[in-house]
Amino acid sequence: MSGGGLHCSSASSRGMSSSSIQEKRILCVGLVCLDVVHVVKSYPVEDSDQRSVDQYASRGGNASNSATVLAILGQNSEYFGTLAQDSFELQAIEQDFRDKGIAYSNCIRIPNCICPNSAIIVNQENASRTIIHTNLNLPELTLSDFQTLNLKEYSWIHFEGRNLINVKEMIRYTKIHFPGLTVSVEVEKIGRNYEEFVPLADVVLMSKDIAKANGASRKEDVAAVFRGRLGVGAKLICAWGELGGMALDADGSISDCPAFPPPEGVIDTIGAGDTFNGAMIASLNLGKSLDKALITACKVAGAKVGVRGFQGLQEVFKHAD
Ligand code: ADP
Ligand code: FRU
Repeated sequence: MSGGGLHCSSASSRGMSSSSIQEKRILCVGLVCLDVVHVVKSYPVEDSDQRSVDQYASRGGNASNSATVLAILGQNSEYFGTLAQDSFELQAIEQDFRDKGIAYSNCIRIPNCICPNSAIIVNQENASRTIIHTNLNLPELTLSDFQTLNLKEYSWIHFEGRNLINVKEMIRYTKIHFPGLTVSVEVEKIGRNYEEFVPLADVVLMSKDIAKANGASRKEDVAAVFRGRLGVGAKLICAWGELGGMALDADGSISDCPAFPPPEGVIDTIGAGDTFNGAMIASLNLGKSLDKALITACKVAGAKVGVRGFQGLQEVFKHAD
């Protein structure tokens, strides 16, 4: 596999089936899809005709990308979601999970569905990524799907912020039956009431868009806006694009961190937020303090935007603080 693309290559030798992994895993719950990325010299004009300069396919989806980053950072990573069982895309997606050493055997396979996909335009002029996502009929996970998992096998459960009603049920179920298990939730997309996730998780990974939509126009305003809305003992982290990010700890202390722009320039921002989240989760799960985890996440995400896909992040992670 080169770049972020899906090409056949031999499977890595890490234990792939959930039963073969002894150590507790970090579970990422949410979407996997196929990204078809079109790299263009400049953003197309509507109703024009231009050639791309490159094109590749890769496994995408926020939870799936964060699972990739966790595996690359050396963590025991599992993805959980629904899979379009007989879609032609699934073979490539599964091969890539195996190549990256990400467990996925607990996924819920559903027949007669179309695999979700994204057509993504990456503009070489400024590395912007424009995503047209299609999900025609693949059902979302339900609580009973989630209850098929043995949650004792995990040290951390991360939920992609989607599927509001069902994911809220999954979080509540986890907190009631496995109170020692750390739960994080991504709150990224606006206009879908995903703010309802905020009080439920131990670690809230919020986007700048959500913060802005709730009245925090600068990252310095985020703590004041959300302080009273978190669960007891919870932490809030907010990524702020090329301005880095901030974090609010359970004791009320606030950390701030700039971005770390890649020396060779920004090349690919697809999954920057998913990378930030993966690095944050890996750091906190390893016991780093919140301020150190924030620095690590900003450094790892800064390195990610300088490369296609997610390669080379482990070195940055190792030397981040
Ligand atoms: P997304 O749009 O993918 O949700 P963000 O734009 O919020 O993600 O970025 C996530 C993190 O990636 C930021 O907190 C920052 O650390 C890093 N990042 C994003 N863009 C840049 C950039 N241009 N230079 C350096 N780091 C960046
Ligand atoms: C990046 C990403 C892509 C996917 C899209 C889904 O964050 O997960 O991989 O196509 O977002 O919204």
